[in-house]
Amino acid sequence: MTILAFSGSPRSASAIGHLLRAAVAVAPAGINCTFYEDVLALPLFSPDLDAPSSSVAPAVAALREQLRAADAVLIATPEYAYGMPGSLKNALDWLVSAGSFYGKPTGVLSASPSEVGGDRARAGLLLTLEALGAAIVPAASFPIPLVRTRLGAAGEVTDTGLATKLTAAMTALVAAVPVPDLAD
Ligand SMILES: Cc1cc2nc3c(=O)[nH]c(=O)nc-3n(C[C@H](O)[C@H](O)[C@H](O)COP(=O)(O)O)c2cc1C
Repeated sequence: MTILAFSGSPRSASAIGHLLRAAVAVAPAGINCTFYEDVLALPLFSPDLDAPSSSVAPAVAALREQLRAADAVLIATPEYAYGMPGSLKNALDWLVSAGSFYGKPTGVLSASPSEVGGDRARAGLLLTLEALGAAIVPAASFPIPLVRTRLGAAGEVTDTGLATKLTAAMTALVAAVPVPDLAD
């Protein structure tokens, strides 16, 4: 089983990246995790570039393949001006026609220094993921307030309550993946 840890931050060394790494580190044994941290590599979306007759940029094809190959997704966003970063929305726009989010178990995190932890950006992200047909896993979806107080200098999770929540989120995500019917 493969889980895609999808960073919505355009920043290198981002808090979101540290949180996703911490979550992946506590995934149940035997789970394969891949990272997507390349939203800035994508061209700006236009339906003109996504027409059936046109071939998409290699960065778009790579993102689509990573999502297709994943059994579940843990996506995390920072909050920019009460919304998700434009670069993350751009990435999601590229994923509409591919249809690979449809039915995919998905945990949705946000983090910011504020007391609501980017929950307004998370609300917008949830709406977009609803449009894409993702199967949101509530037990793997929550905002992370005051994120700077929960990470150490190297980005490690220092808050034990958060570490417990991330472990529970990964367990819930894995449990949400349908077991293949061996009779098929
Ligand atoms: C342009 C910009 C706008 C921001 N707007 C908000 C905001 O509306 N609400 C909030 O809580 N944090 C806001 N922040 C703070 C980021 O959400 C915060 O720094 C976040 O932890 C960044 O995550 P990252 O380290 O993964 O990039 C903003 C940051 C930037 C750069």
